[in-house]
Amino acid sequence: MKRSLGVCYYPEQWPEEMWAVDAARMVDAGLTWVRIGEFAWTRMEPVPGELRLRWLDRAIEVLGEAGLKVVLGTATATPPRWMIEKHPDMLAVDVKGRVRGFGSRRHYCFSHAGYRDEAARITRILAERYGRNPYIAAWQTDNEYGCHDTVLSYSEAAKAGFQEWLGSKYGQIDNLNHAWGNVFWSMEYRTYGEIGLPNLTVTEPNPAHVLDFRRYSSDQVVAFNRAQVEILRGLTEAPIAHNFMGRVLEFDHFAVGADLDISTWDSYPLGFLEDRIDVDAAWLRRFMRQGDPDFQAFHHDLYRATGRKGSQSRWWVMEQQPGPVNWAPYNPAPLDGMARLWAWEAFAHGAEAVLYFRWRQAPFAQEQMHSGLLRTDDAPAPALAEAMDVARELADAPDVGVPTPSVALVFDYEACWAWDIQPQGADFSYFRLVFEMYRGLRRYGLSVEIVPPDCADLSAFKLVVAPGVLHWRDEMREALAAYQGLAVLGPRAGSKTADFAIPEALPPDLAALGIKVARVESLRPDTPIDLEGGGAFGLWFEHCEGTAEVLERTSGGAPAVMQSGRLRYLAGWPDAQAMMRLMAAAARDAGLEVIELPDDVRIRDTDQHRFVFNYGAEEVPAGVVPGLAAPLAPAGLARLMLPG
Ligand code: GAL
Repeated sequence: MKRSLGVCYYPEQWPEEMWAVDAARMVDAGLTWVRIGEFAWTRMEPVPGELRLRWLDRAIEVLGEAGLKVVLGTATATPPRWMIEKHPDMLAVDVKGRVRGFGSRRHYCFSHAGYRDEAARITRILAERYGRNPYIAAWQTDNEYGCHDTVLSYSEAAKAGFQEWLGSKYGQIDNLNHAWGNVFWSMEYRTYGEIGLPNLTVTEPNPAHVLDFRRYSSDQVVAFNRAQVEILRGLTEAPIAHNFMGRVLEFDHFAVGADLDISTWDSYPLGFLEDRIDVDAAWLRRFMRQGDPDFQAFHHDLYRATGRKGSQSRWWVMEQQPGPVNWAPYNPAPLDGMARLWAWEAFAHGAEAVLYFRWRQAPFAQEQMHSGLLRTDDAPAPALAEAMDVARELADAPDVGVPTPSVALVFDYEACWAWDIQPQGADFSYFRLVFEMYRGLRRYGLSVEIVPPDCADLSAFKLVVAPGVLHWRDEMREALAAYQGLAVLGPRAGSKTADFAIPEALPPDLAALGIKVARVESLRPDTPIDLEGGGAFGLWFEHCEGTAEVLERTSGGAPAVMQSGRLRYLAGWPDAQAMMRLMAAAARDAGLEVIELPDDVRIRDTDQHRFVFNYGAEEVPAGVVPGLAAPLAPAGLARLMLPG
C-alpha cells in the first residue's frame, strides 16, 4: 500500500497570490494530501442563498494542478452568524440550561431539524459542484463531532426528539415505566409528552432515563453524519471520512464509522497528555515533550477498529500535532524527532495517511498561538524538516505491512456512559480502566486490536480482555462460548442489563464463569486492598461467590482472580504493579511471547516488521528489545524484520 503525508490548509485565510506558492512548497516537502474547507461556510455563502464558490473552485484548481490531492470538508461545524437569525433555537443548551452561543465553533444542536436541513443543503451544494472534480480525492464530513462537549444538548428540539425516540423504542408507556423502574420515587409517566430531559432535577435523575438520553444523543450524531454521507454517496466516488477526536466518548464511534469509508482522528499528543490523561505529576514532567507512550497508540487502534469493514480497515490521522498547541493547560514544544515518530507510529498501526495540522500558523484569532509547519512569517517551523524526513523515508522504505495483533481489547461506549452516570466511586472512569489495561498489555510488547462489544468472532486472538463492559451482547456471549483462547473479564463487566438494572443472575451475568458478585465496594485511592502476589486492587473491589477456581486471593483471603475453563475474572481494579503482573501472566498463559519493556519503549508488530519506538528523552541501549542492534536515540525508532 502507498502511505502518504499531507497537511491542513485554509485558503480562505490567506491572499490568493499565496496559494500557488504554498502549493508548490507542499509538493516540494513531499506532501500528497491537502485538507481544506471545513470552516469556510461564511465565505461560501456570505448571505443566505447567495453562493460564492468561485474562490473555492480556484483554490481547488491551484492545489490540484500543483499535484496535491484535496480532501474537502462539508463546512457544517461552523454555520455563519446569519444562520442563528434564521434558526434562533438551533443552538445547543448545556446541562445547566444555558444556551451555548455564537462566536467560536460547533454551535449547533444535533437534534434541530432546521439546522439538519441546512447542513444537508450545503453538503448537497458542495457535492454537486465538486463530487466529480478530479482533484477532490476524499471528503470529510463536518469536523470533530463531540469536540468541546457538544454531543449532549438539553434544548427543546432535543426534548421533542427524545420523546419521539422513546416512543418508538418502548411503544406502550408502561413498557418504559417498567424498564426504567419508575415505580421508585413515583416517577411513573402517563404519556411520552410528560418526559423531560434528565437535567435540572433536584437530585440525581433515574440512571435508566439518563442512559437512554445518552443513547438518543449518540444516535443524533450518527443520523447527522449519515445524512451527509448519503448525499455525498450519490454524487461522488471519492471516499468519505470524518475526523474523530481523542477521548471523546459521548457518541458511539463504531456506529458513525460504519457509515464512513475511512475513519480518521486528530492526534495532539502533548495537548492530550496535559489535558485528558489520568497520570501523576512525575509522568507529566517525564513525557511533557513526547506525549504519553500509549495514548496515541490506543486511539490508533480504537479508530482503526471503527474503520473496519469485514477484514479490512481504512484509517488515517487527519490532524497531527506539529509543535506547541494553544489549548492545553501547558503547551510545551515537542522533543526534536517527535513529529517524525508520531507519524511513523501511526503508519505502524496501519494508517494510510497522516496530515499535519496546519500548514501555516495563523497570526490572528483563537489559534494564533498554535504552531504549524510554517511560522507566521512563512519561515519553516521545526516540524517541516521532520515531515520532509518522513516523506523521504516513506518513499524509500518497504511498506509497513499488515497489523497482526494477537490480543483483543473490548471497548464499549455504553459502558463509558453508564459508569459516568453511576460511577459508584469518585474515580471510576471506564476509559481509564480500559486504558490502563491497554497500557499493561503494551508494557509487555503486545500488539492489541480493539473490538466492539458486539464482536461476534474472537477466534483470531489468543487473548481477549474485557473490563467494565456494561452488559453482554448476544454476539459476545456466543463468541465467548465458542472461544478457545484465554478471556480476561472484569471488574464490573456484565454487571447491568441493557435497561440499567442489576441482572437477575447477578453480575458478571455469565453462567459459564460460575461466579456471582455478592457485593461491590469502591475504595479511596489511598486504601488499596493488597494482593497475595504483589500489588493491590485500588478504587474498586468485588466480593465474589461461586464455583470458579481461585487463582489468587487478597491478603485478607478473599478471591481476587478466578477462572472457569478459558474464562478468567478479575474482582477488582489492579494498581499499576498488579496490572503489569496480571497482564503478563494472562499473556503467558495464553501462549504469547512477552517482552518486558521500560516505561518509554513501545513496540508494534505487523506481519513483516517489528517497530520499536523510544518515547523517552534519553537514549535506549541496544538489546532492550531482542534484535535491536543499535541504541535508540531520544524520539528514535527502529524497524526490525520479523522472521518469515
Ligand atoms: C482540532 C481541530 C482543529 C484545530 C486543532 C488545534 O481539534 O479539529 O480545527 O482547532 O484542534 O489543535
